[in-house]
Amino acid sequence: MNTLEAMETCTAMRYFKEEPVSRDVLTKLIYAATRASSPGNSQGWEFVVVDDTAAKEKIGAVIKAGMAPAFANKPQGLDGVQSRMYAGAEHLANNFAKVPAWIVGCGRKLYPPQAPSDVFMYSTVYPAAQNLIVAARSMGIGACFTTFHHAAGGVIREVCRIPEDVHLCVMVAIGHPARQFMPVQRRPVESVIHWNSF
Ligand SMILES: Cc1cc2nc3c(=O)[nH]c(=O)nc-3n(C[C@H](O)[C@H](O)[C@H](O)COP(=O)(O)O)c2cc1C
Repeated sequence: MNTLEAMETCTAMRYFKEEPVSRDVLTKLIYAATRASSPGNSQGWEFVVVDDTAAKEKIGAVIKAGMAPAFANKPQGLDGVQSRMYAGAEHLANNFAKVPAWIVGCGRKLYPPQAPSDVFMYSTVYPAAQNLIVAARSMGIGACFTTFHHAAGGVIREVCRIPEDVHLCVMVAIGHPARQFMPVQRRPVESVIHWNSF
């Protein structure tokens, strides 16, 4: 599979087989993440892989409770795609511990050195996470970006012993897919290109 094909079909995967993902594969995914660009090549990223069942159960219980209000109060009038997205996200949160591995993409606020900012920290971690997701797709591994850490930052820090100066930026679910990858549905490229003038 070439890179463009992987990008075109790396739908968010929220349903996984129970089969574990080997640490060799997880290491390759983080290798791919760390080939990304970062401002000034600052590379202020860290990746915490959570594949221990007890750790996942402890974090998962907090995420399930923390996310419940969002799912209970989901917007009305969702279309088919949005309904499937909410149902999938709820399934993912409620089955957190059954996901073979979670990769917590973390950032250090260290760029630019004279005035480190959140903007540069997030713009370091997200391209890396996207590299990881495309690499996963190319290897037949499913992945889903999440912001579940917003509901469970404290317990994640405690369980994974993440220092205070390391910020939680994204949580990516990783596993062998239990659903088909599909072509991603995105706005047509013609509708977003502006040649020289908006
Ligand atoms: C920054 C970011 C945060 C996201 N957070 C979540 C999330 O918390 N839970 C979830 O199930 N999906 C999450 N997603 C996945 C998107 O919902 C998904 O990519 C989008 O609905 C398009 O679906 P597709 O990638 O399958 O085409 C997130 C994606 C991004 C880029």
